[in-house]
Amino acid sequence: MKNILHLIRHPVVQHKLSLMRKKTTSVTEFRALVSEVAMLMAYEVTRDLPLTQETIITPMERMRAPVLKGEKIVLVPILRAGMGLLDGMLRIFPSAKVAHIGIYRDHRTLEPVEYYFKASKTLRGRDLILLDPMLATGNSAVVAVDRLKGAKARSIRFMCLVAAPEGVRTFQKSHPDVPIYTAAVDRKLNSRGYILPGLGDAGDRIFGTL
Ligand code: URA
Repeated sequence: MKNILHLIRHPVVQHKLSLMRKKTTSVTEFRALVSEVAMLMAYEVTRDLPLTQETIITPMERMRAPVLKGEKIVLVPILRAGMGLLDGMLRIFPSAKVAHIGIYRDHRTLEPVEYYFKASKTLRGRDLILLDPMLATGNSAVVAVDRLKGAKARSIRFMCLVAAPEGVRTFQKSHPDVPIYTAAVDRKLNSRGYILPGLGDAGDRIFGTL
C-alpha cells in the first residue's frame, strides 16, 4: 500500500460528523456520535481484510463459509482522544485486542514523547488499527506508527475523523505504506496546532473537560 488516503464520504458519516462539529453539540451527544461514526467507519477501514473458508454446519446442511483469516485484530487508541473511537470499533470487533499508546508533546522541544505503551506480548502477524480522531500536525501518529512497526504486524492502518493537510503530508512522508482513513480533510492548522474548521479539542469534547 502506498500513500493511500481513504476519504470516507458515506452520507451518514458526513451527516454525523457535521453534528459533531457544531459548537452547541453537548458532551453526551458528542460521545454518542463519535461512537456511531467509529462503527460506520469500521466497515471501510477493514474492507480489505483477508478471508479464508471454514466448514460450518447450518441448520440445513454443511457449507464452506467465509471467515476472517488470521489472528484477532488489535485496536490501538492514542491516549486520550483515541479512546473515544474505541467503543464503536469494539462493537464491530468485540473480540479485538486493545493496545494503548500514550504520547505527549514536550513543551520545550515541541517534539512528541511516548509515555505509555501496553500491548499483548506479541503483535507479530496481526492487523493493527491505530485510532486518533484528529490528524493535526501528524507528529503523534508518526511516533505511534514508528513504535508499532517494530512489532512486525501483518498490517497497520490509521483511522481518524478529521485530518489537516499538514498532518496528512507529515504522516505520508514518514509512513507512505500506512493507509489513512478519514471522514474529512479540513482547510488547515492554526498557529496552536488546531484544525480549522475542525471540531475543537476532541479529547475535551469526549471527556467533558472543556
Ligand atoms: N487535537 C484536537 O483535539 N483538535 C484539533 O483540532 C487538533 C488536535
